[in-house]
Amino acid sequence: MSKITAAITAVGGYVPEFVLSNGILEKMVDTTDEWITSRTGIKERRILKGEGKGTSDLGAPAVLELCKKAGIDPLEIDMLICATTTPDFVFPATANIITDKVGAKNAFGYDISAACSGFLFALVTGSKFIESGQYKKVVVVGADKMSSITDYTDRTTCVLFGDGAGAVLLEPNTEGYGIKDSILRSDGSGRVYLHQKSGGSVSPPSYKTIDAKEHFVYQDGQPVFKSAVVNMADVSAEIMERNNLQGSDIAWLVPHQANKRIIDATARRMEISDEKVMLNIQRYGNTTSGTIPLCLWEWEKTLNKGDNLILAAFGGGFTWGSVWLKWAY
Ligand code: ACO
Repeated sequence: MSKITAAITAVGGYVPEFVLSNGILEKMVDTTDEWITSRTGIKERRILKGEGKGTSDLGAPAVLELCKKAGIDPLEIDMLICATTTPDFVFPATANIITDKVGAKNAFGYDISAACSGFLFALVTGSKFIESGQYKKVVVVGADKMSSITDYTDRTTCVLFGDGAGAVLLEPNTEGYGIKDSILRSDGSGRVYLHQKSGGSVSPPSYKTIDAKEHFVYQDGQPVFKSAVVNMADVSAEIMERNNLQGSDIAWLVPHQANKRIIDATARRMEISDEKVMLNIQRYGNTTSGTIPLCLWEWEKTLNKGDNLILAAFGGGFTWGSVWLKWAY
């Protein structure tokens, strides 16, 4: 029997309507469009508005769009994994809530928390369930309502993040398309530079933690930047080397969208020219788990069967990784 690989066979995406531009942020904090654009590449980001709306309200429409494109009923989904750093609740898992909202009553699922590398960690996890031969339709969602943990009085972080979600359908393939290789890494000692100080079991919510604004993203930007540049480029180069791939073999680099300068450094190291790099950070900012599937969603029509894609991410934890896949349609 030929080897089963997990191939992406459809992509869905969703970004909320409200646009938070650099111009609006200039009126909220001491910043400028020029600073934000030159340091990050971001021009605007989307924000999910509305009382009682959470990450599942981003993920569910992305999954419904995916089902429509693939021509499948949500009841056919076997498993749904949701990568998120901003779950609807501490428990139950946002994956469970999404399956309920889309009517995927036959699916089991869970969340994966790996900050900005979450989608890659979830994609590789989902691929193993397909490769085992036991499951035929696995949906991997990357969704984050980053506005729920962003302090809009802190200019060093509020300019970076946005809300959004993307989802992919994984199905078995026996012709060699799909996920070919992956490298996933983590280093928990990096947690001091990028984390949310309170709300977990170490420091549960209290009046004190709320007054101290500890329920928001805390980031020491420069050490994160330095680690991101080195590690994202390293794992991208490593996955190419061990599979004998040259820059010219790669159709697209699909990088996590945290900072255009980090993306440029990764592309240079891989010897990939700018026109082969998916970049939508200018419109959506850093949607954490959403960035990579949102790129696939936007570029889906330009992709060709057999294209080599390198997906790469770095994020809080620290976590990072790369995936090589052959586009299947
Ligand atoms: N507007 C104007 N000035 C600002 C702003 C702003 N929005 N933010 C910071 N500044 C100021 C700082 O106060 C500082 O001023 P000072 O020199 O007077 O102290 C100056 O600009 C330089 O600040 P730096 O932090 O050194 O700026 P840097 O060039 O490092 O850019 C940034 C900051 C964009 C955050 C960058 O460090 C970065 O991209 N870091 C990595 C982000 C990342 O990859 N995160 C991982 C994924 S996120 C996740 O996993 C959830």
